[in-house]
Amino acid sequence: MTVNWNMDAAMKNGYPHFMMKEIHEQPEAMKNTILPRISKGLPDFSDDKIPDEIFKDCNQIHIVACGTAMHTGMVARALMEPILRIPVTVTIASEFRYEQPLIDEHTLVLVISQSGETIDTLAALRLAHEYGSKTLAIVNVKGSTIARESDYVLYTHAGPEIAVASTKAYSVQLAALYMIGCRMALVRGKFTEKQAMDFLSDLLDVIPAMETMIAQEQMIKGVVSHIIQSLDAFFIGRGLDYAFSLEGALKLKEISYIHAEAYAAGELKHGTIALISDQVPVIAIATQEHVFSKTISNIREVKARGAFVILLTKEGSVVDDNLADIRIRIPDVDDRFTVFPIAVVLQLIAYYASLGKNLDVDQPRNLAKSVTVE
Ligand code: G6P
Repeated sequence: MTVNWNMDAAMKNGYPHFMMKEIHEQPEAMKNTILPRISKGLPDFSDDKIPDEIFKDCNQIHIVACGTAMHTGMVARALMEPILRIPVTVTIASEFRYEQPLIDEHTLVLVISQSGETIDTLAALRLAHEYGSKTLAIVNVKGSTIARESDYVLYTHAGPEIAVASTKAYSVQLAALYMIGCRMALVRGKFTEKQAMDFLSDLLDVIPAMETMIAQEQMIKGVVSHIIQSLDAFFIGRGLDYAFSLEGALKLKEISYIHAEAYAAGELKHGTIALISDQVPVIAIATQEHVFSKTISNIREVKARGAFVILLTKEGSVVDDNLADIRIRIPDVDDRFTVFPIAVVLQLIAYYASLGKNLDVDQPRNLAKSVTVE
């Protein structure tokens, strides 16, 4: 008897690629990361043995990481600084390790790494210790070097991530950072208990919102058919939307090989707009109410130059029908939380672009899942 069984297919659990499987696993990974750390409606890291003192005693936060993990830091900065009112700096680990960073024993250094083995991130962690800073690592792989060497660890519970392009690890790193921001705000008196509870409840609300976007994968596949022939693409947004667009551009370039750049929408006219023509798709993210009208003006500017505009907004946002060629609506979650459903859309855009070009979705050329040499 021959058993028609294949290890690879079994591991993909019926999905054509690991990336698609991992996109679908996100709601579960979010629950696994968030729920065990809620006690009486508040974020609680006592099981992780992370003391509140490290959140109270610091006067600045410095985030170091590489790649997608660094992009979660960019989101965390945009989220945390307005709440905590202390400086939050994000530095690429390969730069940080050769700088003379302005950190000391009053700095909380957050080190973010899916694998826990990225060599530059590890070197950054060691440098932070030389400066006497407290370190808290957000890591997915249990017992990895970064997890072992940092003062404290907050494990994400994404499960194994196989596709080179990170998806579920990005979402759960963000969930961990959102919970850290909430706990810090609480212990530093920036959030009341009620505000912290509402914040966590908003965080939980993103899970069905992510499911809603995953269920729209065929629609997104159709949208992507308009851009797969393009050589270049731009992602624009302001504030948190800009931070999300960095990850959208990285995802697209790493697996579809379309040259993609993320730009702060207000910076367009300082260079990028010269590159906009009718050959160039612009993925515009406009979910932040306080800069919404500004981003819309920027979208008008690229549209006037012929760009093919794919607009990502909240369901309830009101925009002119002719502003964009295609509009993708995400559920109306609170502005601070739109990254979660938007991330799903950006991942699916990259996935279908890679698939549409017949590329190796899970193993893009020249890239490795974990970079353990310099
Ligand atoms: C590589 C991977 C990326 C990842 C980065 C950092 O470049 O391809 O997906 O974001 O390393 O990896 P880490 O394991 O430290 O999060």
